[in-house]
Amino acid sequence: MPLTTTQRQEMLRQAKAVLDSNWREGYTVPGAALYPFQWNWDSGFIALGYSHYDLGRAKQEIRSLFKGQWQNGLLPHIVFHVENDNYFPGPEIWQTEITPRAPRKPRTSGIIQPPIIGFILEVMYQKSAVKRDILAFAEELFPQVLRFHRYLYTCRDIHREGLVYIQHNWESGMDNSPTWDTVLAKIDAEDDRSIASSRRDLQQVDRSQRPSDVEYQKYLHLVDLFMQCKYEDKCIAESCPFLVQDPFLNSLLIRSNQALINLAILLGQNASELKDWNETSIRAMNTKLWNARNHSYDALDLTTGERITTSTSPAMIGPLFARVPSESQAHLIVERLRGSFARDGFYLCPTVMPEQNEFEPQRYWRGPVWININWLLFHGLRQYGFERFAKRVADDSLVLVQKYGFHEYFDPRKGAGGGYGASGFSWTAALIIDWLA
Ligand code: DGY
Repeated sequence: MPLTTTQRQEMLRQAKAVLDSNWREGYTVPGAALYPFQWNWDSGFIALGYSHYDLGRAKQEIRSLFKGQWQNGLLPHIVFHVENDNYFPGPEIWQTEITPRAPRKPRTSGIIQPPIIGFILEVMYQKSAVKRDILAFAEELFPQVLRFHRYLYTCRDIHREGLVYIQHNWESGMDNSPTWDTVLAKIDAEDDRSIASSRRDLQQVDRSQRPSDVEYQKYLHLVDLFMQCKYEDKCIAESCPFLVQDPFLNSLLIRSNQALINLAILLGQNASELKDWNETSIRAMNTKLWNARNHSYDALDLTTGERITTSTSPAMIGPLFARVPSESQAHLIVERLRGSFARDGFYLCPTVMPEQNEFEPQRYWRGPVWININWLLFHGLRQYGFERFAKRVADDSLVLVQKYGFHEYFDPRKGAGGGYGASGFSWTAALIIDWLA
């Protein structure tokens, strides 16, 4: 049942209250206890939420994120604006001071996250009543966002084919997605230090909803390797067992390139570099990563040359959002989503197919519904004219939040579930604000 006007107003009030309580003088923590710093792609979605009612905060959020940008353009996945012992791995583990390219203050992590600031700026511009103000802000941010994209195409696209690689599953934003299982299986981290007692997340959230200790050990093994390489991309590319071309991250990059191109036109700036990158990337997505049998896009393990054919919904949703597939490809993808993910008894959209062995409805990125993925799906579907399906995605998202609150992720099984991970999660609140607006 769709929400009543009163329910929508109340939800909007609560969503703003979540963002207010997570605001920390200049930036917003994703979740007060579990994530006490600033996260890269979280901030993009959060800024979009603020832009509907407090443009000042939206701008501050993005400016604060770019305080962490490295000299080579890398925009780190976490910016540690303050000290806080409640998160692991904190700045003392990343030790980014070993490279002169990282800022000394604020300290940061040493990896990226999906590049969404480009398209967030454009969406803010499209939805705003004060377009000149947003355009001036976009002009201010443009060189920094462009530097991030240039870093990706220069340092993370070894074959110069328009597909950037990730060197850690955390870079994808989808930490323990089954997509990474075969890649992580190659890493033997048994002799590494045990990190079970260091983990802070398990003090907040039940173990069944988070990655396992063995997985964490591998995640940390990769961080050790980056430090041994002193965060030099060349060294990492030569020695890292995790080098993956991920269709989701590449799609969000493509969408952000397109947004910068559109903004450049409005700003009277040259966008030829962006256009070249984008044409090459879209072509590579459709030739190299498209899986014509599964009607999905595969990730590719660059260390073995093998395709990773595990189908997750984000690998279909990212490309739809970025308008990577042709009309006929899009129809095939949507048919697949309808048949395999939008099943009776499930809320849209499980991140992993419910019939798949890897499906775990409570465990983080191995099945639960995430509101940011639903938001991308909603917009992706509408671009290809699937209005009714898009409406189901929006309705399910609102119902989940109405029933269970502003959680980080939700059990996709109707009647069985609830909300998991952090409660009072910022991007859930921010994207609900965007939907209700
Ligand atoms: C975490 O700590 O769970 C984050 O997702 C890593 O960035």
